[in-house]
Amino acid sequence: MIELAPSILSADFAHLADQVARAAEGGGTIIHVDVMDGHFVPNITLGPQLVRSLRKATKLPLDCHLMIENPDEYIPAFAGAGADWISVHFEACRHLDRTLNLIKSQNCHAGVVINPATPVEMLSEVLDIVDYVLVMSVNPGFGAQPFISNSLHKLSKVRELREQRRLNYRIEVDGGVALDTVAKVVRAGAEILVAGNAVFSHGDPMINAQNLLKAATEATLLKV
Ligand code: DX5
Ligand code: ZN
Repeated sequence: MIELAPSILSADFAHLADQVARAAEGGGTIIHVDVMDGHFVPNITLGPQLVRSLRKATKLPLDCHLMIENPDEYIPAFAGAGADWISVHFEACRHLDRTLNLIKSQNCHAGVVINPATPVEMLSEVLDIVDYVLVMSVNPGFGAQPFISNSLHKLSKVRELREQRRLNYRIEVDGGVALDTVAKVVRAGAEILVAGNAVFSHGDPMINAQNLLKAATEATLLKV
C-alpha cells in the first residue's frame, strides 16, 4: 500500500498544526519529522518539545527521522514525546543492532536509513529486525534538493531482499519526491513517500498531497 508522509521540514512552523491538517486532508497518513543536530548533518531543526506539541495537534503517526549523532541518548525522549516511528542512520550508529532494539523497547517502529553513498548490502544483518528501511534520495540536511536517481536501484534491491528473505519491512524513500519523480520511486519499490517541498513549499498542501498520491497510484496501476 502506498502512503504519503508529508515532511514538516518545509512547512510554515508558525502555522504548523494547520499545515499538517491540510496535508492530512489531502491524503497524507504519516507525518515525517526531520530531526537534525548540526553535527551529523549541516543543519539544525527541532527536538522532542516540538514532537510533543505535534502529538496534540494530529492523530496521525509521527515518523521521526533522526539525523543526529549518538541517537541512543535521545531516542527515549522522542518516544516519550509521542513519536510512533523512529529511524536512525546506518552512518550515525556505532552499534546499530543495539540502537534498533532500543527503539523497539520504547514501543516504536524501528527504521534504518541509508545515505545515497551507502550500499544496501550494509543492512544485511539488520533487515530481519527493522520495521522499515528508508532509502535517502538526497544527501540529508535540507529540503528541496534534486532527486538522486541512483537511489532507484537501491529501492529495487531493498524490495528484492525482502522477497528473497521473506521479510515484512516497509520501504520508505525521502528526498526530491515530487510529481516528476514519484512514478519512478513507486515502480522501484517505495511504499512510503516522504515529501516536504512538493507538499508545503508552494500552493495548498491539500491539493499538492492529492496530486502526488494520484500520480503514485497511477504508477502502481501501470506497473508491469
Ligand atoms: C532531508 C530530509 C527530508 C526532506 C525532504 O534531509 O530528510 O525529509 O524534508 O525534503 P524534500 O521533499 O523537499 O526533498
Ligand atoms: Zn527525512
